[in-house]
Amino acid sequence: MKFFAVNGSPNRDGNSAALTRILLDAAKAKGAQVDYVNIYDYRITDVWENYFGDALYKKFEKAENDDMPLLKDKMAAADIILLASPIYWYQLSGKLKTFVDRWTDTINPDFSSDLRGKGLALVSTHTGVNAINASNILQLAMDSTAEFLGMQWLGGIDCSSKMPFTSGRNNGHEIIAADFGEKLAQGQNLLGAPVFG
Ligand SMILES: Cc1cc2nc3c(=O)[nH]c(=O)nc-3n(C[C@H](O)[C@H](O)[C@H](O)COP(=O)(O)O)c2cc1C
Repeated sequence: MKFFAVNGSPNRDGNSAALTRILLDAAKAKGAQVDYVNIYDYRITDVWENYFGDALYKKFEKAENDDMPLLKDKMAAADIILLASPIYWYQLSGKLKTFVDRWTDTINPDFSSDLRGKGLALVSTHTGVNAINASNILQLAMDSTAEFLGMQWLGGIDCSSKMPFTSGRNNGHEIIAADFGEKLAQGQNLLGAPVFG
């Protein structure tokens, strides 16, 4: 399996990077090929007025000189797109959200997407200081996004960050991350069900 892994945290060595590294190391041990980037290293133009219509007809002049063509090539080369995000107010980080907004670039006039058939997986991290699990909300949003684009939702994992008032990542989170990495590398979803024909 070929992974395109995108870390959406400005903290290159933070909580999201740490959990993702565990997942990807396990995936690589099972033969996965991994292209890993930090989204903060790329220029991505915000969507503009009438963007959706322009995107359907591949009119990207307003985004000239940004890095979306390169990022789209990386997505096209992958079987699985793995997003890693710190939870910012129950959602993706803003920069990663802008990247996902720009996935509209891949939609065609018949509403098919060039991302059709690819797997989508999520690693998210948070403080855990919420009355509800913020990562669960994001997982629902990404599951629906995958469905709209004809992608295969593979599942999401999360952990909390170590703070004076939180328990932080522990061995259990690391076992789950490694297990998910192994499953993804073998074309399975979080449940261990085969996804790719
Ligand atoms: C702007 C901002 C918003 C945040 N919103 C939430 C939140 O809604 N829920 C939560 O549990 N943690 C929230 N956090 C905490 C981060 O999600 C958490 O510290 C995360 O693990 C940081 O990941 P990183 O080390 O990869 O950057 C927020 C942090 C920032 C900076």
